[in-house]
Amino acid sequence: MASSSSLLHCCVLVLACLLSSHSSQALGGNNRDKAWHIVEVKSLLPSSVCSSAKEKGFNRLTIIHRHGPCTPQPTNKKITDAQILRKDQDRVDSMHYYVKSAKKATIGESLSVSLPAQHGSSYGTGNYVVKIGMGTPRKDFSVVFDTGSDLSWIQCKPCKACYNPTDPPFDPTLSSTYSNVSCSSKDCTRLEKSFCSNRQCQYEVRYLDNSTTNGLLARDTLTLSPTDRLLNFIFGCGTNNSGFSDSDMTDGLIGLGRDRVSLISQASSKYGAMFSYCLPSNSSFTGYLSIGTNSVPKASFTSMVRKTDSPSFYYINLIALKVGGKLLNISSTVFSAGTVIDSGTVITRLPPTAYVKLRDAFQQYMEMYPRAPNLDILDTCYDLSKYREMYVPAIAFVFSDGTTLDVVFSGILYVPQESQACLAFAGNSDDSDIGIIGNMQQKTVNVIYDIANHKIGFSYGGCK
Ligand SMILES: *[C@@H]1O[C@H](CO)[C@@H](O)[C@H](O)[C@H]1NC(C)=O
Ligand SMILES: *[C@@H]1O[C@H](CO)[C@@H](O)[C@H](O)[C@H]1NC(C)=O
Ligand SMILES: *[C@@H]1O[C@H](CO)[C@@H](O)[C@H](O)[C@H]1NC(C)=O
Ligand SMILES: *[C@@H]1O[C@H](CO)[C@@H](O)[C@H](O)[C@H]1NC(C)=O
Ligand SMILES: *[C@@H]1O[C@H](CO)[C@@H](O)[C@H](O)[C@H]1NC(C)=O
Repeated sequence: MASSSSLLHCCVLVLACLLSSHSSQALGGNNRDKAWHIVEVKSLLPSSVCSSAKEKGFNRLTIIHRHGPCTPQPTNKKITDAQILRKDQDRVDSMHYYVKSAKKATIGESLSVSLPAQHGSSYGTGNYVVKIGMGTPRKDFSVVFDTGSDLSWIQCKPCKACYNPTDPPFDPTLSSTYSNVSCSSKDCTRLEKSFCSNRQCQYEVRYLDNSTTNGLLARDTLTLSPTDRLLNFIFGCGTNNSGFSDSDMTDGLIGLGRDRVSLISQASSKYGAMFSYCLPSNSSFTGYLSIGTNSVPKASFTSMVRKTDSPSFYYINLIALKVGGKLLNISSTVFSAGTVIDSGTVITRLPPTAYVKLRDAFQQYMEMYPRAPNLDILDTCYDLSKYREMYVPAIAFVFSDGTTLDVVFSGILYVPQESQACLAFAGNSDDSDIGIIGNMQQKTVNVIYDIANHKIGFSYGGCK
């Protein structure tokens, strides 16, 4: 710690003690209304070593950070933080665009032709991938898992256009359990966008950033864990994939949305309409994705809301925010456009009116630290390079039924380097746009999607 700052630092300590005098719990676990996180600055930086936990158990997949040391084939195709944040904004823009177009359509205006074929979320940065097996004998693929879209797809042979992530494309001719879906099948007709060619059903997914994947709609055996298989799983066998890049480092996507053909809809009769996951605190650790009702941890739940204009998205009723253990003065009507919890968006987006209050309160608590330049959409950054330890105010989401989600420390700051640690929240451009709880703010929490009972649960310490 710089000596010039020690006096300030002393005051902060006193302040921290005063503020947290009503909650003396130690770090870790569920520290309701804890005012501060006290952290070593060094621990902010991701390490270059993978300390992966092997996920064991029924239908439990290991979640890996796409750009960290735990990826199976670390590459030199590095993506910058600015690129990640740009792609994140593309995804958010497409979710907003999708909801707005769908709203217009439901109130009578003709549906814009450019409405994305499958649910609007862009592929985004995804950030987290899981490994699945497809076909018999099984072949492994790294796929983004996405709670914001429904149809799953992987790259397939014969390629009209393929990119080159890490694994070769899936070859249907080598799988004894593969079959095409015919045009007359209701699995074909209920896709948002399908074509017919040689009586075989063709799917297409077009994302707002103009990346597209199309090919045959197919069925094959999906292997979720070494012992468990989902037979006749419907997915897009993508022979024409454009607009993706090798640095995307994935072979496709698993759709965990709420509607129609998503993995959850297909698996619910076998495993129950439920899934849960835990996203690791940093890319040195791994998390899990678990399909079905097995071994679901205890949690506090809040209602899962469905909106007819965006039936794939998981809405929850966010009504308030806390900084430093104290409720911010924000009218709950500010959140009335709705809030989606999303696995594929990185940074939480708030209505601008709420974001400004959150940011201002955060800046007050962080006053003693020197500011650093903005990082793309992140406008509240600090230079911590002269400190050994730091104090960061706690942040929490409050939902309409009183359930609170305390953001763990690793979800508060986005830290490309010690000299630039940024508040990992951003404002939408308008209060009428939906808010999104991003994956940064879900780190290390067990997030449970209980679709059958319309509720979403949170419990702490789900993974490192
Ligand atoms: C990131 O992981 C390393 C271990 O690999 C750990 O030492 C460090 O504290 C972690 N950082 C955060 C912010 O959790
Ligand atoms: C699926 O359809 C394609 C294109 O019509 C065809 O080439 C292929 O042989 C079919 N595969 C199976 C297993 O029927
Ligand atoms: C996508 O394509 C459309 C039509 O060609 C174009 O207007 C739009 O600017 C493109 N979007 C991006 C992000 O490139
Ligand atoms: C691949 O898909 C794009 C976008 O839909 C389309 O324009 C193109 O014609 C397709 N290419 C082939 C070879 O089918
Ligand atoms: C809360 O905010 C409203 C307007 O935004 C203001 O009128 C009111 O005085 C504030 N209340 C407190 C306790 O600061």
